[in-house]
Amino acid sequence: MPAIRKTIDEAEIQRQIELCSRIRAMKNTDGQAGLALVDTYGCQQNEADSEKIRGYLAEMGYGFTQDEFAADIIVVNTCAVREHAEMRVLGNVGALNHTKKAKPEQIICVCGCMVQQEHMTEKIRRSYPIVDLVFGPHELWRFPELLLRVIEKHGRVFATEKDEGAVAENIPLRRDGKVKAWLSIMYGCNNFCTYCIVPYVRGRERSRQPEDILREAEQLVAEGYKDITLLGQNVNSYGKDLDREIDFADLIRMINAIPGEFLIRFMTSHPKDATEKLFRTMAECEKCAHHLHLPVQSGNDRILRAMNRNYDHAAYLKKLETARRLMPDLVVTTDIIVGFPGETEEEFEDTIRLCEQVRYDAMFTFIYSKRNGTPAASMPDPYSREEKQRHFDRLTETANRISGEKHREYEGKSLRVLVDGETGREEYNLSSRTNGGRLVHLKGDPSLIGQFVDVQITASNTWALYGEMKNG
Ligand code: 5AD
Ligand code: SF4
Repeated sequence: MPAIRKTIDEAEIQRQIELCSRIRAMKNTDGQAGLALVDTYGCQQNEADSEKIRGYLAEMGYGFTQDEFAADIIVVNTCAVREHAEMRVLGNVGALNHTKKAKPEQIICVCGCMVQQEHMTEKIRRSYPIVDLVFGPHELWRFPELLLRVIEKHGRVFATEKDEGAVAENIPLRRDGKVKAWLSIMYGCNNFCTYCIVPYVRGRERSRQPEDILREAEQLVAEGYKDITLLGQNVNSYGKDLDREIDFADLIRMINAIPGEFLIRFMTSHPKDATEKLFRTMAECEKCAHHLHLPVQSGNDRILRAMNRNYDHAAYLKKLETARRLMPDLVVTTDIIVGFPGETEEEFEDTIRLCEQVRYDAMFTFIYSKRNGTPAASMPDPYSREEKQRHFDRLTETANRISGEKHREYEGKSLRVLVDGETGREEYNLSSRTNGGRLVHLKGDPSLIGQFVDVQITASNTWALYGEMKNG
């Protein structure tokens, strides 16, 4: 279906960058360099989108601040995956009443997945008059044009039309860190899991051209990044929409061929599309981290069917077995939803059983959250919040116990880790990650940040490992 894939003309992005210069010139007339605050909720894809928003803002001449009273412009990049995230966003946007009162010329923008839902846009239109600009994920590429409309006082601007989405290259980026980088390889999702809002707000799957991805990866390596995470809602279907023969495993191999010492990570993989070819490629490519985030969502086949996941628990376990055979040191993590409409006690027990069987290094667990417009929202949901919470607590306990046990197995072992930042604590002042992505606290000189070092693991708990640097 290559016809679906829509690209934004390079000249269009160029025009947006020129509009940034125009905004910069307008601001400079009063000699004040403005300050911007970008607040991000939700997944890594949103983090990556915020880097583009910051890129545009930097082109406009804005500096950055964390202080919402000091900010001339605030951009809240929202998430719609669960109700809890939406409530937090609305609470925090509401609190901006105070900052806007103190600074009436402050511009407030709300963007991202939450506002791609009509009822949310309406809510902001009616109940949050302090918000000047609202735009969905599909409009991010024309943020400068939309902001200019606000600055030129054309009133409040809402840009959240329904759209399948496009691919836009060459948007300026301002990355957060110097060691780890996000690299989006595709956008959108075609899977329509029945509980999930993502396909409705992020549009259809569309892959970037491999040349564009490679160019960005080469640039990251040249700039000294050591940990590159390839991002997509379902990276395993990379390339399916392109007019050429390429899949995700091929892409990993191409990036692996870039000279230099760095790690390739990726997320998220859908189990239905995870292939032996992918596992073999991971095993063979020395730069590819041996970490697989493979969301199972449930261990019960009826629930998996109701979720439209397209695999059963046996097929899932078989894939993991293949992956672990090819990579005995593989770190496996997952996402699980508790309390999907109609999930019974026995069905929940199947999930616990599967977790005990797989022994995940870490699990991300969620209580089902009803999303307007998804098929699951109209399924009978007879179980109480208390019951769901009880299951959730049990699953969390299981997850924590297993993580703790897995971490204990590291004690006494020697590993190579990438030092990625400071913890702010005295005893273990540095944080680092193993090849499989487990957190290791260390004591050492901050100049080691960005370097691979050999450590011995001396202690552990549920959440982290503790190590000592070898040779000083
Ligand atoms: N309720 C609870 N959790 C959800 N997720 C996605 N949609 C929902 C929902 N409606 C979880 C899934 C997914 C992760 C990113 O968020 O587990 O893998
Ligand atoms: Fe949502 Fe399923 Fe797509 Fe993941 S694969 S974004 S859970 S619809």
